[in-house]
Amino acid sequence: MIRITTQKDMPAVLDIHRLAFEEEDEAILVENLLDDETAYPLLSLLMEEDEEILGHILFTKASVEASDVSAMLLAPLAVHPGRQYKGIGQRLMKEGFRQLAGMGVELVFVLGDPAYYPRVGFVTDAGGQGFATPQPIPSQYREAWMVKDLNGGAIDRYHGQVRVADQISAREYWSD
Ligand SMILES: CC(C)(COP(=O)(O)OP(=O)(O)OC[C@H]1O[C@@H](n2cnc3c(N)ncnc32)[C@H](O)[C@@H]1OP(=O)(O)O)[C@@H](O)C(=O)NCCC(=O)NCCS
Repeated sequence: MIRITTQKDMPAVLDIHRLAFEEEDEAILVENLLDDETAYPLLSLLMEEDEEILGHILFTKASVEASDVSAMLLAPLAVHPGRQYKGIGQRLMKEGFRQLAGMGVELVFVLGDPAYYPRVGFVTDAGGQGFATPQPIPSQYREAWMVKDLNGGAIDRYHGQVRVADQISAREYWSD
């Protein structure tokens, strides 16, 4: 079952990120974003089975400069190492897109693996579509900056510098 994350879920949610990424950075990022008022409105979803949390996804507010398009950034996404490659990541994304579309969101951005995210409709090299990254990224990662259009047409209607929440705006996040 996929549902909205509550405060009570947070210890288990942070553990999923620690286990999936084998480091503390993404768990800290999740905590920081949830405390960041510029990240709201946000959408935090988890996948649960038999009361065990198996995956988590966070979408936080983004914007495209000089436009009024409603946009979000997907970061981070993690699935329990013992349950990866079984479709959980894609189910979390698809349910997220469904709920975001219901909130009137038109565009979702992600910086991630260009071999994975196009499976759910992300277009690689969003910079080439006119959506500049919040911070400069190394040119070899151009394909990793991706955009998904939730209702058709928004990719062509808008372009500009993408802005994200304060806690994920630091240059290091984009250049690593
Ligand atoms: C990446 C991650 C979220 C994917 O979730 P998942 O539930 O394991 O993956 P799914 O079942 O949705 O998708 C599986 C398919 O995507 C592919 N895939 C999964 N992760 C991939 C990756 N990082 N790069 C390329 N392909 C990937 C699998 O090979 C599989 O392909 P197949 O359907 O042809 O067999 C999960 O593996 C994870 O938490 N990894 C560690 C943390 C991480 O890297 N997060 C993403 C940051 S960008």
